[in-house]
Amino acid sequence: MLTVAVLISGAGSNLRALLEAAADPGYPARVIVVGSDREASGLAHAEEFGIPSFVVPWRGAAEREAWGDELNAQLAVWQPDLVVLSGLMRLVPPAVVAAWSPHLVNTHPAYLPEFPGAHAVRDALAAGVPQTGASVIVVDDGVDSGPLLAQERVPIEPGDDETRLHDRIKPVERRLLIDVVRRIATGELDLTAAAAS
Ligand code: GAR
Repeated sequence: MLTVAVLISGAGSNLRALLEAAADPGYPARVIVVGSDREASGLAHAEEFGIPSFVVPWRGAAEREAWGDELNAQLAVWQPDLVVLSGLMRLVPPAVVAAWSPHLVNTHPAYLPEFPGAHAVRDALAAGVPQTGASVIVVDDGVDSGPLLAQERVPIEPGDDETRLHDRIKPVERRLLIDVVRRIATGELDLTAAAAS
């Protein structure tokens, strides 16, 4: 059974989808801990599912390295097989990448390498493109630049605003994330090989 730590910053809807998938005895992964950089509302999902959680508060960019060391220390307590960044709105410092990658994956609401960064949905709308998407990647030291594990297109519809478009992207992200975690757990997807390619 693959053990997973999930890190969030917000509502945790993708976390919830993974928790629901993992509640199926046939699903080959279990979320063992949820972490956040703030008192995120999404931590309530962990509580509801009886999963322990921790908060390593973000104290500003000047403390980024110390924050990463604390995050590493918390994760080391749980020794997960995989760490999933699911709406963690912080760039993890190099020490976190070094400790966990390639067993460190991120979901992103765009068809990478298009629209990396914290405002992917807004940026896609501003660019006036007909479609965007969702991606799951291995985290490296860049901004949403790691090897792609899965991605899918989502069309932009007339009248879309940031909320409406993001609400259509998220179900795609959830499906991709649940499938990627399943494939990692079964050995169908080898993260070391994926990261080397
Ligand atoms: C998700 O769309 C995730 O991909 C995005 O934040 C959302 C979190 O939603 N992350 C990023 O944009 C990171 N660059 P959730 O908290 O409801 O799961």
